[in-house]
Amino acid sequence: MTNATDFIFDVQHKAATTVASGTFTWSAPSNIALVKYWGKKENQIPANPSLSFTLSNCKTITTLTFTKKEEKGIRFDLLFEGKPKEEFKPKIQKFFERILPYCSYIEDYHFTIDTTNTFPHSSGIASSASGMAAMAMNIMALEQALHPAMETSYFHKKASFLARLGSGSACRSVVGSIVVWGEQADVEGSSDLYGIEAPFAVHHNFENYQDVILLVDKGEKQVSSTVGHDLMHNHPFAAERFKQAHQNLSALKQILQTGDLTRFIALVESEALTLHAMMMTSMPYFILMKPNTLQIIEKIWAFRAKTAIPICFTLDAGANVHVLFPESVKAEVLEFIRADLSVFCQNEHFIEDKMGNGALLIK
Ligand code: PMV
Repeated sequence: MTNATDFIFDVQHKAATTVASGTFTWSAPSNIALVKYWGKKENQIPANPSLSFTLSNCKTITTLTFTKKEEKGIRFDLLFEGKPKEEFKPKIQKFFERILPYCSYIEDYHFTIDTTNTFPHSSGIASSASGMAAMAMNIMALEQALHPAMETSYFHKKASFLARLGSGSACRSVVGSIVVWGEQADVEGSSDLYGIEAPFAVHHNFENYQDVILLVDKGEKQVSSTVGHDLMHNHPFAAERFKQAHQNLSALKQILQTGDLTRFIALVESEALTLHAMMMTSMPYFILMKPNTLQIIEKIWAFRAKTAIPICFTLDAGANVHVLFPESVKAEVLEFIRADLSVFCQNEHFIEDKMGNGALLIK
C-alpha cells in the first residue's frame, strides 16, 4: 500500500543534489475512459474506479525550463504555442499549490512552461488530461535530476499522483495502453492515488484498438467536469452507480482478457450512456449530448446491425463521439465514417486516433 505521504519529497529524499537550471520536454497523450470516473471525494480521490485506453495522436507537448532563484515562492511564465497565455495561468497556479506539499523544491525555481496540443484548441477535446500529465512528467524529471537514484516505478507512480492533483483523469495518461485508476479488489496494485497499467494480459483483439473522435461540438463545455463531479454528492443514484462501476470494471477485466467483443460493446456503450444519465438526473440537471450525437449513435447501431462489424461508441463529458473498433476492420469503418458520420461533425471534422503507450521524454 502506498500512502500520499510516501510522495513527500523531503521525507523520501534527504540526499538531494543541487540543480541550478535546465529544460525538459515531455509529451503526454489524452485518454478515453471505458469505465467512467464521475464523482469524487476530497483531494481528487475518485468515488469509483475507472479504466481507460491511452490515446496516441491527441497529445500535449510541454517544455519546462527552470532556473534556481533566491527567494522562495511559486513563480512561472506560461506560453501556449510560444505566446504568453494569461488565461491558463490560474489552472497551473492551482496545480503548483496542490503539488507543493509533495514537491517542496518547486518554490526554489522560476519556471517557463511552453505548451502545445496536437489537436485543435477548440475541438471540445479536453486538454486537461494530456496537459496535466505532461506537466507532471516534467516536474518529475526535475525531481529525478535532484535525486538521480529514484526508481522508474516511483517516477511513474508519483507522476501519476501529481497529474491526478491537476485533473483526475490525467493520472491515466502517464504509462501504459490500458490504465486502471481507483481501488478495485480484483485489480492488483490499483490505487485511488494514481493510475496503473492494467496488470493482466490483454487479448490481441484489443491490440492497436482504434478510436475515431467525431467532433460534433467544438465549443466550450456548458458545464465543467468539476461542477459535474460535485453534482454526484446527494445524487439520488450515486451509491448504485459507484457500485455498478466496480462490477463493470470486473467484467471489463475479464472481457479484455478473453477478447469478447460483443460483451465489450455492450459494456462500453452502457457506461457512456450511464455517465450522461447521471448528468440528466442530477439537480440541477444538464444535457451535454447534441442532436447530432444521437444521430451518430443511431447510425452506428444501424451499421453494426447490418454489417456485424464490431464498432461501438463512447462519450466523454461533451457532445463528441468516440468510435471504437478493432484494427482489423479499420478500412471499412473509416469508409463508413467518411460517408455517413462526418456530415454530423462540425466542418466534417474528425480525428483518427488509436491506442498509445503513455508519456514520452522528447528532450
Ligand atoms: O478529469 P476530469 O475531472 O476532467 O473528469 C473526467 C471525467 C470523464 O471524462 C467524464 C470520465 C473519465 O473517466 O475520464
